[in-house]
Amino acid sequence: MRRKLAAGNWKMNGTGGSLAEADALAAAWPQAACDILICPPATLLSRLSDRLSGSLIATGAQDCHTASSGAHTGDVSADMVADAGGSHVILGHSERRADHGETDALVRAKAEAALGAGLIAVVCVGETLEEREAGQTIDIVGGQLAGSLPDGATAANTVVAYEPVWAIGTGKVPTLEEIGAVHDDIRARLVARFGAEGDGIRVLYGGSVKPSNAAEIFGVSNVDGALVGGASLKADDFGGIIAALNA
Ligand code: 13P
Repeated sequence: MRRKLAAGNWKMNGTGGSLAEADALAAAWPQAACDILICPPATLLSRLSDRLSGSLIATGAQDCHTASSGAHTGDVSADMVADAGGSHVILGHSERRADHGETDALVRAKAEAALGAGLIAVVCVGETLEEREAGQTIDIVGGQLAGSLPDGATAANTVVAYEPVWAIGTGKVPTLEEIGAVHDDIRARLVARFGAEGDGIRVLYGGSVKPSNAAEIFGVSNVDGALVGGASLKADDFGGIIAALNA
């Protein structure tokens, strides 16, 4: 059985005042039947990790560099994420692939660095609307998966997040059949490459997940939780999604 995961990606949102939302979430969920993760902006990671220590909410970063230290102005290494109290790092999010030209090979190198630092890598894949309309979804996602996951991926150190680019922040969500088709294909590819470990790697869905649609999405086969953007910023909304995983 794969334990479900509710992961929040705050993206470039949040300053000190946002820590109160995390406090409220921790107070609302002293225990849960799923794992809970918040990935705040890098500036908040240390503070959030301190605030949430002793709670069951884990913290993580939204990116890391391939190197552990050095002359890379503005970047943060996996070792630094771990030092700041983070246990996870989101890698290859479509916004980084688009904004920073991140390739599968770079994402894979970052994932290797993350695993080397003892972090859990949350590796993101997903097609654009153009690719979906051209019938390329399975090929695109399969290619990203093959290129972005390191050979050392295991159920314990890696999570995959399927996020259709056109569903992110748009309020548009694929049909449950469409989600299921991609998640089933991802599962088959993980098992083909990693064997039993591949069967244990969690595959999250992301893209306009809300309290109102979470339960039906979590009912889809091979959906092991969600990577949530906008709705993770408010404790009530994220709590509603966590509740759907605890029903
Ligand atoms: P939204 O939940 O805001 O659509 O964002 C999804 C996402 O990109 C999470 O990484």
